[in-house]
Amino acid sequence: MSKTNRGSTAALPVVVLISGSGSNLQAIIDAIRDDGLPVEIRAVISNRPEAYGLVRARAANIPAEVIDHTTFSDRSEYEAALQQLIDQYAPALVVLAGYMRILGTAFVKHYQGRMLNIHPSLLPDFPGLNTHQRALDAAVAEHGASVHLVTSELDGGPVIIQATVPLLPDDDATALAQRVQTQEHQIYPLAIRWFAEGRLTVRAGELLLDQKPLHQPIYYGQTTVSP
Ligand code: GAR
Repeated sequence: MSKTNRGSTAALPVVVLISGSGSNLQAIIDAIRDDGLPVEIRAVISNRPEAYGLVRARAANIPAEVIDHTTFSDRSEYEAALQQLIDQYAPALVVLAGYMRILGTAFVKHYQGRMLNIHPSLLPDFPGLNTHQRALDAAVAEHGASVHLVTSELDGGPVIIQATVPLLPDDDATALAQRVQTQEHQIYPLAIRWFAEGRLTVRAGELLLDQKPLHQPIYYGQTTVSP
C-alpha cells in the first residue's frame, strides 16, 4: 500500500477502457466519490465514439478519449495507438469495464499483472459473448459475474471475485443481465479497492490476497474476507 507522508493511502492511478454504456465505470466513479475508493481515474478511453460511458466520464471531469478501432487497418496498429495513449496517463492499473475488443498478446503482456476485466458469467463457464442467453439455454442453477486478471487467454485469467444470481422462472436475457449487472457494480469496485490498497497482488502470475495465494475466487456475500 502506498502512503502519503500524512499517512493516508495515495490514490492509485487508473485508466478505464470502455465500449458502451459504462455502468461499471459509473459504479467506480461513485465508489471513489461516496465510499473513499482510493483511486484516481486519469482517463476513460473508448473504442466507440458513441459510447455513453464517455458522457459519464465527462460529467465526472475525467478526460474522455476515443480511439476508434474502425479507423485502423489492423489490430496491432490500433493496439499500439491505444497503448501509447494509455501510457501517457501512467496508470498503475488498467480496468476493462465493458470493453468489447479481444486484445492481442503483446498488448496484454505490456499490462501483465495490472489489468483487470469484468465478465458477465461465472467463469470458467461461458467465456465470450451472449453469456446470459447461453446460461438460460443451458438452464444452469446459477449465473453471475466474475472479476479476473487479464491474461492472453480470452476470459481465462485467474478469477478474483465472483457474485452469483439465481435464474428465475420467467427470466429472459435482459432481466438476467440487469440482475447480474447489479452484482457487477458491487464486486468491481471491491476488487479494485483490494488492488489499490495493496491487498491484492500478483506474484509470478499468481494472485495473492492479504499475502495468501488465492486458489479459488472469493464469493461475494459468502466470504469471511473483510471488505
Ligand atoms: C458488463 O455486463 C460487462 O460484464 C460486460 O459488458 C457489460 C458492460 O456494461 N463485459 C463483457 O461482456 C466483456 N467480455 P457497462 O458498459 O454498463 O459497464
